[in-house]
Amino acid sequence: MNTDLNLSAALGRLSLRNPLLTVSGTCGYGDEYAPFLDLNRLGAFTTKSVTLNPRQGNPPRRVAETAAGMLNAIGLANVGLELFIAEKLPVLSALDVPALVNVAGHTIDEYVTTCRRLDPLEPVAALELNVSCPNVVDGLVFGTDPAALGRLVASVRAVVKQSLLIVKLSPNVTDITATARAAVDAGADCLSMINTFIGMAIDVEKAEPVLANCTGGLSGPAIKPLALHLIHRVYNAVAKPAGIPIIGMGGVSNWRDAVEFMLAGATAVGIGTAMFVDPTAPVKMLEGIEAYLRRHGLTDVNQLVGRLRSNAHHPKA
Ligand SMILES: Cc1cc2nc3c(=O)[nH]c(=O)nc-3n(C[C@H](O)[C@H](O)[C@H](O)COP(=O)(O)O)c2cc1C
Repeated sequence: MNTDLNLSAALGRLSLRNPLLTVSGTCGYGDEYAPFLDLNRLGAFTTKSVTLNPRQGNPPRRVAETAAGMLNAIGLANVGLELFIAEKLPVLSALDVPALVNVAGHTIDEYVTTCRRLDPLEPVAALELNVSCPNVVDGLVFGTDPAALGRLVASVRAVVKQSLLIVKLSPNVTDITATARAAVDAGADCLSMINTFIGMAIDVEKAEPVLANCTGGLSGPAIKPLALHLIHRVYNAVAKPAGIPIIGMGGVSNWRDAVEFMLAGATAVGIGTAMFVDPTAPVKMLEGIEAYLRRHGLTDVNQLVGRLRSNAHHPKA
């Protein structure tokens, strides 16, 4: 217990005991990690994406290791909204940590129906929109088209009354500040970033893709410098002026990475792929952050947010 350091972080009105949380899809629904990590040590727990209807996901092989990272093409396999509420939410209720429920869909109606149902339920503290899905109605991916994203977020905003509304940005765009701005203008309370980069791997002996889906999402240390850059960019161009917090994620593996993300502008930091390497990573990171704060004479973890010393807010190229 710290008496001299304030480690608590605030995502808008949602207060976390510390700024570290799990990211969607890498920690299941909360029970899978119980033997390895006391989840109550986290600032928050994020669920795998939930969709209105159950989904089988993609055929195997769905994951592949890469240099400094991994590719996944899980394809949003999940039990669907009603089973999630019946079987998974009680597990999250038993935790003494805010639950961020990640929601995905193929149409605005699917997102709206799912969010409307989840919003009033205890223990849902926040709804995080995974917008890296193709929209089956107009063929656009919500997360790469600012206008489509704005329509989606505004529609969900109209039905989300209690939970914090988080929009998770895709990095697979030319200008991430355009989608960030669209999300904020449409009423997002918080941005999380980033989802995975689209990548692929080829088995040269078979001359075929390693993943059955051909492409997958790249995560892990390989994407950390890219994620850091995008967070820095969105913090300065959109989030800071609008007073909107960022949950930063993408390749965070140790306390130093977490501090980098906060200095670049993240209020909280998500840990995903690193959990597969060491499920106790968040606890070690927290200890490292505490030691860093002490070494630098700081008393509050929030003093790190956006503290980057730089005159060049964002280089042109
Ligand atoms: C196996 C796996 C499954 C994932 N599933 C989801 C998901 O269901 N929904 C989502 O929004 N992001 C999902 N992600 C993306 C992560 O939440 C995160 O944005 C990304 O992996 C970057 O963080 P990391 O490098 O720390 O893993 C998944 C990532 C991995 C590795």
